[in-house]
Amino acid sequence: MTSAIHAAYLERTRSSAGNYARACEFMPGGTSRQAAFWKPYPLTIKRGEGAYFWDVDGHQHLDLINNYTAMVHGHAYPPIIEAVRKQIGDGTGWAAANEPQCRLAALIIDRVPSIEQVRFTNSGSEAGALAFTIARIITGRTKLLMARYGYHGSLLEFEIGSFGNEGPLTHLASYNDLADFEAVLDEHGDNIAAVFLEPVLGSGGIIEGEEEFLHGVRKSAHEAGALFVLDEVLTLRFGMGGCQAGINIEPDLTMLGKIIGGGFPVGAVGGHADMLRIFDPDDMKVFHTGTFNANPVTMVAGEISLRELTAERIERMDKLRESLQSGLADAAKKHGLPLATNHHGSCLNIYFSEAVPESSVVRDDEEAIGRFHLACINHGLFIAPRGMIALSTVIGEDHIAEAIEHADAAMGDVAGEIG
Ligand SMILES: Cc1ncc(COP(=O)(O)O)c(C=O)c1O
Repeated sequence: MTSAIHAAYLERTRSSAGNYARACEFMPGGTSRQAAFWKPYPLTIKRGEGAYFWDVDGHQHLDLINNYTAMVHGHAYPPIIEAVRKQIGDGTGWAAANEPQCRLAALIIDRVPSIEQVRFTNSGSEAGALAFTIARIITGRTKLLMARYGYHGSLLEFEIGSFGNEGPLTHLASYNDLADFEAVLDEHGDNIAAVFLEPVLGSGGIIEGEEEFLHGVRKSAHEAGALFVLDEVLTLRFGMGGCQAGINIEPDLTMLGKIIGGGFPVGAVGGHADMLRIFDPDDMKVFHTGTFNANPVTMVAGEISLRELTAERIERMDKLRESLQSGLADAAKKHGLPLATNHHGSCLNIYFSEAVPESSVVRDDEEAIGRFHLACINHGLFIAPRGMIALSTVIGEDHIAEAIEHADAAMGDVAGEIG
């Protein structure tokens, strides 16, 4: 099929194409990160600053995904860069303790109500794996239950569930369907170590968890003798104490990541001190270590990232998301395209459909969203290939107006091809 959008992308991104061809020699399919890959090939980015980044062909892009929510203060945020520069000058890691880890841990504990102590990892995926390990050690059971199309990281037991499949250790139930979770716990509860839930399905398409559902699953998990793990890797950006503070729910363990690393690799599991005691060298039940766990560069960056994410800034991002959302709806209407959106706080997921699907994994607008994603890039606007958007604190009203203008042009291109 000929597509002017596709042709324009190829024309504008020749250096990215060259870099991708070279990457294919060294990495399977030219990438190490599926979520940063799209067809025909991803852009190669040279540098970022504030709300923008620039690709190797010299084009400027307004970044509306911010490394899938992690860059909550945009790119090269000056206070983080300054602190990290200093830390790098003082050394980047040693097999002994550092001071910044205490400052970041104290900030997290101060903000997130259920967390008494934390254990740092290098990614949200590692935090998920660690939470699963803790649950298995504490309960003596082997399996997990999670929401179909939920996402808890790049671990086989989670990945299969995120595509809607069960596995030897993975049970699934439908998100926002308490009866379904109860049924699985009734049948398999004896062997379920933990129930994992996101308070808002992130990669599943920004689907809000109903309060009653989240509280109900927690209760049922406990009745079945399983731990309740709340995955706030993405959702910590939605409130000072994450979503749990907002709805007053107390998980046994909380997974964290993304914004607590200030743009550097990070993850953490937080929880009650008596649950995390299994790592205490004086009372050790499980050996957990990692060369880069709690490395000082990540810790200083994370401390600033978290400290500078104030309630006012969170509220401002939410308001800007609202105006972006209505601007996108107006543009779609103008071009005769159906548009359905899910949102929570500073995040948004769009679908060129009459209604939002159960998950962005099972959508019926792949043709339109694929073209829109490339068309946006052609116009200097960067969103996730699946239509997800996450704002940052350095985005202002002018950026939102610019984003709507670019999206309007991109929708015009899409309507011209599939309308
Ligand atoms: C809710 C959630 N949990 C876990 C993860 C995994 O984190 P990471 O990509 O740092 O491994 C992600 C990443 O997108 C996430 O959104």
